[in-house]
Amino acid sequence: MSPPLSVMFVCLGNICRSPLAEGAFRAEAARIGLQVRVASAGIGPWHVGEPPDPRSQAVAARHGVDISGQRGRQVKPADFLTFDHIVALDWRNLTELKQIRPNPSTALLSMLLDHAPGRAGDAVADPYYKPDEAFEITWSDVVAGTRGLAAKLKGEG
Ligand code: 4NP
Repeated sequence: MSPPLSVMFVCLGNICRSPLAEGAFRAEAARIGLQVRVASAGIGPWHVGEPPDPRSQAVAARHGVDISGQRGRQVKPADFLTFDHIVALDWRNLTELKQIRPNPSTALLSMLLDHAPGRAGDAVADPYYKPDEAFEITWSDVVAGTRGLAAKLKGEG
């Protein structure tokens, strides 16, 4: 049996946005029957080993998704060889990913909202220093992107 498709979501800290993307994508993949290995990581090392930000855990829980078991990790060059898709949450993440990408690299790099209809080029804004309400916007952005990506990958399978 060939290994399942694999997707990694990357933001700056891996405690606010990419854990939500991981959780939302996992839920959507299960809903549509897409077999996929899912992970998330941060550009920076600050939150390695930590659970997601309580505000991210809360917004996911309000939408029926439990992300409390996730733990922060930092993206590494080898991830470009072990994941099929690496998906950045914003432009800064994408730029930094290009800088650590090894050559050769097998992973396809994209931005999450490139997969959402009508949102190509948009970033998922960093809610870390924003009021709690910002996390609802993060959640809806992440759902738009992960739904589109899951549907695309299901179509390719
Ligand atoms: P995230 O948000 O990239 O969505 O996880 C951040 C979390 C932590 C930091 C920055 C952004 N930080 O500087 O520690």
